[in-house]
Amino acid sequence: MIIAEIKGLQKNYKSTPALKNVTMELNSGEVLGFIGPNGAGKSTTIRILLGIIKSSGGTAKIFGKDVWKDSIEIHKQLAYVPGDVNLWPNLTGGEIIDLFMRLQGTKNNGRRDELIQKFQLDPKKKARTYSKGNRQKVALIAALASNAELYIFDEPTSGLDPLMEAVFQEEVEKLKGQGKSILLSSHILSEVERLCDRVAIIRQGEVIETGTLEELRHLTRYQYRITTKENPVGLKQVSGVHDLVINGNQAVFQADSDRIDAILEAIVPYHVVKLASVPPTLEALFMRHYTGK
Ligand SMILES: Nc1ncnc2c1ncn2[C@@H]1O[C@H](COP(=O)(O)OP(=O)(O)O)[C@@H](O)[C@H]1O
Ligand SMILES: [Mg+2]
Repeated sequence: MIIAEIKGLQKNYKSTPALKNVTMELNSGEVLGFIGPNGAGKSTTIRILLGIIKSSGGTAKIFGKDVWKDSIEIHKQLAYVPGDVNLWPNLTGGEIIDLFMRLQGTKNNGRRDELIQKFQLDPKKKARTYSKGNRQKVALIAALASNAELYIFDEPTSGLDPLMEAVFQEEVEKLKGQGKSILLSSHILSEVERLCDRVAIIRQGEVIETGTLEELRHLTRYQYRITTKENPVGLKQVSGVHDLVINGNQAVFQADSDRIDAILEAIVPYHVVKLASVPPTLEALFMRHYTGK
C-alpha cells in the first residue's frame, strides 16, 4: 500500500524555483530516507506534505488524500517534527508536549514520561530557555509519543549530541518494528544507512534517484583491498580498475562490477594472500552525484 505519493511536485518562491520535480513514493511500513545537501528542497517538500505551504504544481497525496485540501483529515494519523522547531516561549517544555499531543489526538502519558527521561529533557523549564537541541527534543518526544500511522521527521537530530541521536535512532527502529511508515529527511548518512529501507536523493529541487541502498550501490563500484606475495604492478594495465594505489604488496582500487572476473585473473599470478571487498558507502554514492565523478 502507498502511504504518500508525490508526483512532479513544484514550488516557486516568487522568482526562486525551489522545487522543480519531486517525485517519490512512501510505502506502508517503510522508512524512506530523504537526503540531499542544504537548500536542495527537503524542507519545502515536507512543508507541502504537511499542508503548511501550497505547491505551485504537481500532486502530493497522503493516505490517498490531497495534502492541501484534506490536511485536517491527514493530520489525525500523522506526527511530525519540523526542521526548525518554534515553541511558545512562555510555556514549559512539558506543557508544550501535552499541547502537541492533544492536537495530534493522542494521550499516552506513560510513553511521554519514558521519552522525557530517555531524551533527558527538563520539562519544567520555559521554552524560551531551551537550546535548539532541547526544542527539537520537545517536538521529538511529542511526535514519538503519538500513535500515528505516518511519521515525518525533517533533519530531527541536527541539534542533538551523538548520545541523543542514538536514542532517536532506537525509537525510529521501534516504530518500524510496529509497522509504521516514516519519512526521514537527513544529511547524516550513517543515520540513513542504519534506518532507511529506501532513499530518495534530491538535488536542486529534483529527486534524481530513488531505490534501496543495495540498488543504489549497484550503480557504483565496490572497493577491493588485496595483499599479494609480489608487487601487483600489472594491475595498472587492467581495464575496469580505478583509483589504484599500490603500496608494496598491497593494492587498493575500485572495480567495475562487470570486470571482476578479468581483474581477478590478472591478480592471481601475483599470488593472493588476502582479499577484501567493501561496498561503497552512502557517502561515496552521494559524492558521485554531487561532483559528477
Ligand atoms: N520562505 C522562503 N522564501 C524564499 N525562498 C525559500 C524559502 N524557503 C526556502 N527557500 C529556498 O528554497 C530552496 C530549498 O530550501 P529548503 O527546502 O529549505 O532546502 P533543504 O531543506 O533541503 O535545506 C533554497 O534555495 C531556499 O533558499
Ligand atoms: Mg531543511
